[in-house]
Amino acid sequence: MAENIKGLKRSYYCGELREKNIGEEVTLMGWVSKERNLGSIVFVDLRDRSGISQIVFDDTVNKELFEKSESLRSEFVIAIVGTVRERSSINDKIPTGKVEVLASELRVLNESEVPPIYIKDDDNVSENMRLKYRALDLRKPFMQNNLMLRSKFYKVTRDFFYNEGFMEIETPMLSKPTPEGARDYLVPSRVNEGKFYALPQSPQLLKQLLMVSGMDKYFQITKCFRDEDLRANRQPEFTQIDLEMSFVDIEDVINVNEKFLKYAFKEMLNVDVELPIQRMKYEEAMNRFGIDKPDLRFNLELVDVTDVVKDSGFKVFENASVAGSGVKGINIKNGASFYSRKAIGKLEDFAKTYGAKGLAWIKITEEEVNSPIAKFISESTMNSIIEKMGGEVGDLLVFVADKLQVCFDSLGNLRNHIAKNMDLIDESEFKMVWITEFPLFEYDEEEERYVAKHHPFTAPMDEDLNLLDTNPHKARAKAYDIVINGDEMGGGSIRINNSEVQNKMFKALGFTEEDAQNKFGFLLEAFKYGAPPHGGLAYGLDRLMMLFTNSDNIRDVIAFPKTQSATDIFMGAPTELSEVQLKEVHIKVLD
Ligand code: AMO
Ligand code: AMP
Repeated sequence: MAENIKGLKRSYYCGELREKNIGEEVTLMGWVSKERNLGSIVFVDLRDRSGISQIVFDDTVNKELFEKSESLRSEFVIAIVGTVRERSSINDKIPTGKVEVLASELRVLNESEVPPIYIKDDDNVSENMRLKYRALDLRKPFMQNNLMLRSKFYKVTRDFFYNEGFMEIETPMLSKPTPEGARDYLVPSRVNEGKFYALPQSPQLLKQLLMVSGMDKYFQITKCFRDEDLRANRQPEFTQIDLEMSFVDIEDVINVNEKFLKYAFKEMLNVDVELPIQRMKYEEAMNRFGIDKPDLRFNLELVDVTDVVKDSGFKVFENASVAGSGVKGINIKNGASFYSRKAIGKLEDFAKTYGAKGLAWIKITEEEVNSPIAKFISESTMNSIIEKMGGEVGDLLVFVADKLQVCFDSLGNLRNHIAKNMDLIDESEFKMVWITEFPLFEYDEEEERYVAKHHPFTAPMDEDLNLLDTNPHKARAKAYDIVINGDEMGGGSIRINNSEVQNKMFKALGFTEEDAQNKFGFLLEAFKYGAPPHGGLAYGLDRLMMLFTNSDNIRDVIAFPKTQSATDIFMGAPTELSEVQLKEVHIKVLD
């Protein structure tokens, strides 16, 4: 039966006791993490979010209390009073490991049924079980640590931006559907029949309005919602650190954000980030790494061999030697012995998931040059390819011949895959890079039209302004992403604040004036009355937390995340509604 807390006051958290507390009488409260009954002595590991203390109930000191302690089970909630003493068998693994508490009072504040999951870090129960019993899962020390660090990061972020003169402003969650973005989460309106709000994908347009309002240097830690395909580092509901500044150009935004990253990494991990952070143009990133978020912790760069193979006689290579296509390869150093023929088959399957039609390869060993394409090409072409690739004995060379985008996609992702396979990544490193000069537009195969790569308010590079009239799709943007260890941690741009440029941008996107008014009328209207030059950036806070906690699962840094299919197992969302509820919001569900 549960006892009362009355008269007791916690004097320490369980993880706080040290040798200096020896002799003190303390009151601790928490959950029974482990209990061991040695016959005449019971040891209890008492846990709260700060850590664990060992509590001792000794038959020879207090028989009644000892007997009471024998009924304790895992996850019972208890309070104990006792005296701190030196521990006979020191436990170096925990900070409280030199002391223990000899109990003089025990109150069982609540009992617990046998928990359906173990409360320990290395439990390998399925993630669905973890999410279903989230309250218990969050008792695990590593999850408690992750959430405490996340809380610290909110403070670090606010401290930094307040110190830099930013002001925090909230923007609404009930918003308007986002044109030109991912899919929206929609909310029906009760009082406005047949109308819908959308949850914001980001505060983008509102923070631009704030700049027009003169609220220079805005920031916000805010929820964003995107109904998109989920991957390991994506959630339908995630958190951004969003900021915007007025009277700035690229350098100003990058400078304050470099200072922020330096401060954040120092505070969170005691890691010194060297400034300035390396920069790389989008085009260089694509050519060298096939991807606009390169992981710079390992080499495996792409090499273009189109010139060498264009008259090789191998049709697959020759056919790709035309404008817009190419033949590109990666030299997997020491890959010849690492990858068997079967394993190369798996690499090929992997490349195919990114659209490649095949993966040609050349294995260079002491004895021979082994390759399925050897029969199609001359020995001299083979030698030229190997030379261009810098191939040496022990290397495995792999190639994709296709449209450039397919070469980049497949080899860029293969590069990351191989690095993991071959254990080429130093996990203790943080390799940061700004990717700059993104294209202003990209072609959307599904919509069969050009869309803004970042968003339609991103300014073109000053040098490319004229291209808006002549060849808009070649124009580069004043956009920048911060990439850390191969993941996009944040991105932003300088925005257009000139209506002439904005109109050209809409034209290049194929919008009529009416389209533009319908989609962005409120912003364009505000822009008529003195929009300052402005720009900003947003970080994915959850992704930064993954770095700070060394997690490869975004759900481990969020208290109540959604599953891969955007459901919430513990609450049971989304859910069906009653007829009455549906009627109230004027919705009829079709079968
Ligand atoms: P962007 O769309 O690049 O830019 O988003 C900024 C950062 O948010 C993170 N992010 C996500 N994190 C988790 N789950 C998701 N589904 C998800 N989607 C994005 C990424 C990304 O870098 N308004 C602009 C910013 C600006 O221009 O100022 C924007 O939202 O880390
Ligand atoms: P095939 O003649 O189709 O058996 O192909 C010979 C080799 O070329 C195989 O190793 C294929 O994987 C490879 N290959 C086929 N198409 C491509 C391509 N588009 N790019 C790279 N390699 C390819």
